[in-house]
Amino acid sequence: ATQLEGRHFLKELDFTAEEFRGLVDLAAGLKAAKRAGAEVPRLRGKNVALIFEKTSTRTRCAFEVAAADQGASTTYLDPAASQLGHKESVRDTARVLGRMFDGIEYRGESQAAVEELAAYAGVPVFNGLTDDWHPTQMLADVLTMTEHTDKPLASIALAYLGDARFNMGNSYLVTGALLGMDVRIVAPKAYWPADAVVAAARAAAEASGAAITLTEDIAEGVAGADFIATDVWVSMGEPKEVWDERIAALAPYAVTMDVLRATGNQDVKFLHCLPAFHDLGTRIGRELHERHGLTELEVSDEVFESPHSVVFDEAENRMHTIKAVLVATMAAAG
Ligand code: CP
Ligand code: NVA
Repeated sequence: ATQLEGRHFLKELDFTAEEFRGLVDLAAGLKAAKRAGAEVPRLRGKNVALIFEKTSTRTRCAFEVAAADQGASTTYLDPAASQLGHKESVRDTARVLGRMFDGIEYRGESQAAVEELAAYAGVPVFNGLTDDWHPTQMLADVLTMTEHTDKPLASIALAYLGDARFNMGNSYLVTGALLGMDVRIVAPKAYWPADAVVAAARAAAEASGAAITLTEDIAEGVAGADFIATDVWVSMGEPKEVWDERIAALAPYAVTMDVLRATGNQDVKFLHCLPAFHDLGTRIGRELHERHGLTELEVSDEVFESPHSVVFDEAENRMHTIKAVLVATMAAAG
């Protein structure tokens, strides 16, 4: 069984491919056990702090439900409710929470902050999203991919379209590289991951045999893909003003039925970490509709609602995979 007792979960490349796949396998087992009504709680008496400096639906709920299923309790700290970063340093917060909790989740802008928490907490720290990486999301996406293809991970072709210089683009690139996938970043050059991220991915690909492609050409980038993924064009923490330039640059990279057809794969599946701006159900959606007449952004409603879309399996899998991280790092071995 996967045992990473006492380890942090801060970014994908801290793990070997075997460890990463082990977490995905553990999650699949936990999912099956829950469905069968046979889950064994291994975290009774444990307490987990959930620090959210940015908002969340899935990640927060996934940690809370996963912990509860396993017999652990959680304490939620929202941006306004903790002293972190305003009245107290990350280092001191880490040392305080580490005395009370058995694990700490952190979501915020700064990867340096989650790493500093980990350095001083003395208990496992979990990255619930930073501007650089979204590693718990990658576990969910890989579990979802395994559920929707018979191919081994190292034979999967995954194309990510859209803003690739933020957490999701970075994480797909390095995760695909780690696991030996054929991973393609399809975006205008200005939206490709930073050079250091690409270099880290290329180094991981050397070891795994992954193929890495960065291209502006949609037809080339999606040909033969098993999975097409995208993310919002403006991420949390970015100013609203950037919407107009993002729409201008990224509109050609919206995932439409034409993009799915260009894969040449009738069984291609669509991934999105969510939240998605695919309809007018959001405030920004209504504003953009008024300004640009747009009703669809990074993915068309047609794709999102089609049988190709596996986004709600992916969302559910956040819970099972986060549970795997909690169990692997916090449960006593045995
Ligand atoms: N995918 C994801 O992280 O969603 P939340 O922002 O709702 O947690
Ligand atoms: N890139 C998005 C992901 C949300 C889960 C953001 O950072 O807002």
